[in-house]
Amino acid sequence: MIADSTPICARAHANIALIKYWGKRDAALNLPAVGSISITLADLYTETALTWHNAATDTATLDGQPVESKRISHVMDLIRALADTDQRAAVTSTNNFPTGAGLASSASGFAALVVSASAAAGLELSTRELSILARQGSGSAARSIEGGFVEMHRGHRADGTDAYAAPLADKDSWPLEVVVAITTRAQKAVDSTTGMTDTATRSDFFDAWVAGADGDLDAAREAIANRDFDALGALSERSCLKMHGLMLSTGDGLIYWSSATVAAIHEVRKLRAEGVPVYFTIDAGPQVKALCAPGYGAMVAERLGAVVGVEAAQLMGLGPAAHVIA
Ligand code: DP6
Repeated sequence: MIADSTPICARAHANIALIKYWGKRDAALNLPAVGSISITLADLYTETALTWHNAATDTATLDGQPVESKRISHVMDLIRALADTDQRAAVTSTNNFPTGAGLASSASGFAALVVSASAAAGLELSTRELSILARQGSGSAARSIEGGFVEMHRGHRADGTDAYAAPLADKDSWPLEVVVAITTRAQKAVDSTTGMTDTATRSDFFDAWVAGADGDLDAAREAIANRDFDALGALSERSCLKMHGLMLSTGDGLIYWSSATVAAIHEVRKLRAEGVPVYFTIDAGPQVKALCAPGYGAMVAERLGAVVGVEAAQLMGLGPAAHVIA
């Protein structure tokens, strides 16, 4: 048993995938069907404070509201097993951005949870071990353990020990800028887990998606190594459109975009036609993230902010790895 504890607080930043993760090779261990490449974002993060308590269950709040989550308990069970304790935890989290609207709240949330919980349990885990734990909360969370440019390996082993995220390049070595165009603050209708599970069984294109992933990852890794913005941007836009094509081809059709999403896509392409180095990407929600070469973010934010239906356009740089803050 761990003695009465003072809170341990961790901060983890959201990330956006440039080469997308969509689909699972194993649901129980949450193993991805494809690898992915992401960038961690400076200005969107979750802070999680964790204390051990003498209650029968784990409790959790997010932005002051109680949350019931089997995934939180599952991740806590994994950490308890490593720490050889059965003590339950009180988890208090805050997001500095809207939850569940396609801004990677589960990514930063589970990354912050495993960093705070493992520290509170006195465990000294490697970032690989932390990302494997975070993956079991949410696949994209494995990537939020690291900062800058990050690759999530799909792995091949059945036990998932080779499905983890690792850094590709430091955030300061290529200071790309990102504009997050918020088109709605409402929760999305179909969560990613449900959507991707549906896709695997109800889209004719799923096998082609998986078959194309390694080539996209190789090309994106090379573009990052060469600091080739146009190559990386084009690959990112294409991976996003392939993923949304897959979503559209699923069952009745999964449509995450709003009319403002489409308007923002056209504005990014218009900017590019004017010579501005900018590409878009979109996750399982209506928000558009514009990837900009260094120095172009402010003007892209101004233009996207003026698109009808865009509520706010927030400019940010790349963010650090998840870390304990107190
Ligand atoms: C569209 O990580 O939310 O954002 O592993 O089921 O929790 P689970 O899914 P999640 O999926 C993220 C999907 C995506 C693309 C990406 O981030 O790579």
